Amino acid sequence: MTRLRIKDILKTTPANQTITVKGWVRSFRNKTFIALNDGSTNNNLQIVVDFNTLPEELLNRITTSSAISVTGTLAASLGKGQAVEVISKELTILGDSDPEKYPLQLKNKPSLEFLREIAHLRFRTNTFGAVFRVRNTLAFAVHKFFNEKGFLYMHTPILTSSDAEGAGEMFHVTNFDIANPPKDENGKVDYKQDFFGKSVNLTVSGQLEGELAAMAFSDIYTFGPTFRAENSNTARHLAEFWMIEPEMAFYELKDNMDLAEEMLQYVIKYALDNNLEDIQFLSQRLEEEEKQKPQTERSELSLLDKLKFCLDNKFERVTYTQAIEILRESNHNKKKKFQYLVDKWGVDLQSEHERYLVEKHFKKPVILTDYPKEIKSFYMRQNDDGKTVAAMDILFPGIGEIVGGSQREERLEKLETRMNEIGIPLHELSWYLDTRRFGSCPHAGFGLGFERLVLFVTGMTNIRDVIPFPRTPNNCEF
Ligand code: 4AD
Ligand code: MG
Repeated sequence: MTRLRIKDILKTTPANQTITVKGWVRSFRNKTFIALNDGSTNNNLQIVVDFNTLPEELLNRITTSSAISVTGTLAASLGKGQAVEVISKELTILGDSDPEKYPLQLKNKPSLEFLREIAHLRFRTNTFGAVFRVRNTLAFAVHKFFNEKGFLYMHTPILTSSDAEGAGEMFHVTNFDIANPPKDENGKVDYKQDFFGKSVNLTVSGQLEGELAAMAFSDIYTFGPTFRAENSNTARHLAEFWMIEPEMAFYELKDNMDLAEEMLQYVIKYALDNNLEDIQFLSQRLEEEEKQKPQTERSELSLLDKLKFCLDNKFERVTYTQAIEILRESNHNKKKKFQYLVDKWGVDLQSEHERYLVEKHFKKPVILTDYPKEIKSFYMRQNDDGKTVAAMDILFPGIGEIVGGSQREERLEKLETRMNEIGIPLHELSWYLDTRRFGSCPHAGFGLGFERLVLFVTGMTNIRDVIPFPRTPNNCEF
């Protein structure tokens, strides 16, 4: 008999039909009621067994997290809490789970930190069930959004010889015996003899390759893993994260902002429309977590309200220069409450500043534009003032920067001049510069950190809890 998913069974009208269901036992009460879960929803299916007809040996094997298969009749439930239940006719243990050894006894609520150490089992909790179903929905919504807009999904390479961001925070990939690499005549490691015949890294961004594709297909996006060897042990940084990078020919900065805003609202709405139960569950979870905090640190809005708020309000658009003014004049700055005080134009914004703007000042998502060129990447389009570039960062409440993007410098001469100033060898990126030689045009794009989006929509507070197997400094388990 074909297996039905619990999510679908719970929506079925019971008529004593025979069905088969498989899953993992969440609990077993009074030797009669099994709460069964198969990951399709947080709602368990109640299985009713008749302990008089089952051997004691079998009953004892129905333990938390054992895998079972049940064939029985679907009936209206008399108990409260569920509309239907399955009266078991045939129950098979597929896999035992020794209650003495199983580390995840759901009775005493495990901490998120503890669950991170057993990330291979945390999928079986309600919290992580909800988080990863929402993550799945968001990923699907991203593809749906771009597909409906006629964008081409482009796979950019993971192994690369370029440093897209020019920030130098790359993981190096080599096949050499690192204790004994071949050297050239100058005593330097000779990458000509390495696997690719050159020095290679894991990509930090698919943007530069994405730009090449946009210069032929007009509108493309990438959605893939990216890697950063930045030693930031924060709740918002991962060494391996997923990034969505659209790149559009004939777009200017405003078009870029419009697209990013539309996309964020689309995917959040899609999650609310298609995953409301899980988000409601996470909203309650967050409320409970916040009860532990002092009143002043609790958020004013529930998770659900926060998401709806994001859909109902346009994002605030301000320039970097305006933002610096706001920060400099803020009481927070005057009372020296920032760790990094804002004194002069040109400083990079710290996350405390970003969060102040979003959470305290504007109280809504903010798009900051036109940053000083010194604190942004070489490829950003230079504004006429000679000081700023057509950059845009989107800042979200509780998250800080969620999107980073810009209009690109399409003028060959200006781009080369900037690269020379910063010291990026032109010959290394001659393929990139070719797009500016052959049919260059205004274009723009951005990168959305997928885990930061998932953080926002799930209301989780640590980025390690929204990716199945987080990679961070000193941690690469599983
Ligand atoms: O601002 P970033 O570095 O921009 C780029 O990589 C551009 N090439 C994007 C583009 O224009 N195509 O990164 C983009 C986003 C950030 O806004 C943030 O959401 C996320 O990627 N991000 C990280 N997420 C998790 N862990 C990290 N270490 C991250 N670094 C960046
Ligand atoms: Mg950035």
